[in-house]
Amino acid sequence: QTLRMSVSQLEKGGYPHFMLKEIFEQPNTLFDCIRGRISADGTKVQLSGIEDNASRFINAKRIVLVACGTSWHAGLIGGRLIEELARIPARVEYASEFRYANPVISSDDIVIAISQSGETADTLAAIKLAKERGAFVYGVCNVVGSSIARATDTGTYIHVGPEIGVASTKAFTGQVTVLTMMALAIAQLKGTISPDALRSTAQSICKIPSQIKQTLKLNDKIEQLSRTYTYVHNFLYLGRGYNYPTALEGALKLKEISYIHAEGYPAAEMKHGPIALIDKELPTVFIAPKDELHEKVVSNIQQVKARGGSVIAIVTAGDEIIPSMADHVLEIPSSPECLSPIIASIPLQLLAYHIAVMKGCDVDMPRNLAKSVTVE
Ligand code: G6P
Repeated sequence: QTLRMSVSQLEKGGYPHFMLKEIFEQPNTLFDCIRGRISADGTKVQLSGIEDNASRFINAKRIVLVACGTSWHAGLIGGRLIEELARIPARVEYASEFRYANPVISSDDIVIAISQSGETADTLAAIKLAKERGAFVYGVCNVVGSSIARATDTGTYIHVGPEIGVASTKAFTGQVTVLTMMALAIAQLKGTISPDALRSTAQSICKIPSQIKQTLKLNDKIEQLSRTYTYVHNFLYLGRGYNYPTALEGALKLKEISYIHAEGYPAAEMKHGPIALIDKELPTVFIAPKDELHEKVVSNIQQVKARGGSVIAIVTAGDEIIPSMADHVLEIPSSPECLSPIIASIPLQLLAYHIAVMKGCDVDMPRNLAKSVTVE
């Protein structure tokens, strides 16, 4: 028997689009990203870029993260992790703003530049400026040997393999995973985390690949529910804490590939504006895993329902409250709060993908967008 497949079908490994292939690759790409960086017993996080520059990290007065697009969303999560775990003040900037802002930067600062392609012009310019002002610059890139990887003093590769789909998926989860390991490695050096907390978070990171495999089983359900939303014109995405950036990233994915306007917002800010938009025409996606602020998000869901809005909720498996309120519930496995964005972003990627496919959009090459933006 002969199997007939074009080169492009072969490259997509049997999937209809690179984006879907890359979404489904994530259990493996994250396994590669973590491999060799967490000791088998979970007691040590080893990143050579941090170990070789230990005194810089121990003495850093401030960390500034610069990036664009999806990488900036990963940076928002990374900044919060660094501040929370390593107790170093962290600021997150769009590279395009940072480069023209005349920022106060000194040799006690560390600038972390995050870029999948390693070729983004604004990020490269931000690195140049940071270096001129004496900062130590650390890269978090995917493409080995890229311009940003070469322009930085040192760094950590995310090792998720080539990403072809214009909308970033596996690079985002790889970036957040590396930034989490960086925050743990710095916290370990500075002694700002207890050995027990370090071990339990490191062990939870090691569980991520299998938890993502589990989460990908939501694909059929998401494909089904996407039909309801194909002709919607606007979407709201809400989350809190570590999942506020997840909401931004979910909204960006939908915008990029389905051309549906979507806004990400911190759930508590809803009352300061977005609530005015809510009616039966505006669905809201809540990223609402079981965490410290769960109850507050539950009351935001009630507010949306009271105004006739429909709700898609991403919840921790076993949540007993939200399923009785939301129109659609997508359950993800339980994880520490700081790791939940990695898992919660999987259903958001699939939701954007299926809505875009149903609308007949070219998901791998959305109009007007480029995989890497090498001009201003
Ligand atoms: C473009 C891509 C995005 C990406 C952004 C930053 O806009 O379409 O997917 O997030 O550039 O790219 P980088 O390669 O620096 O992460």
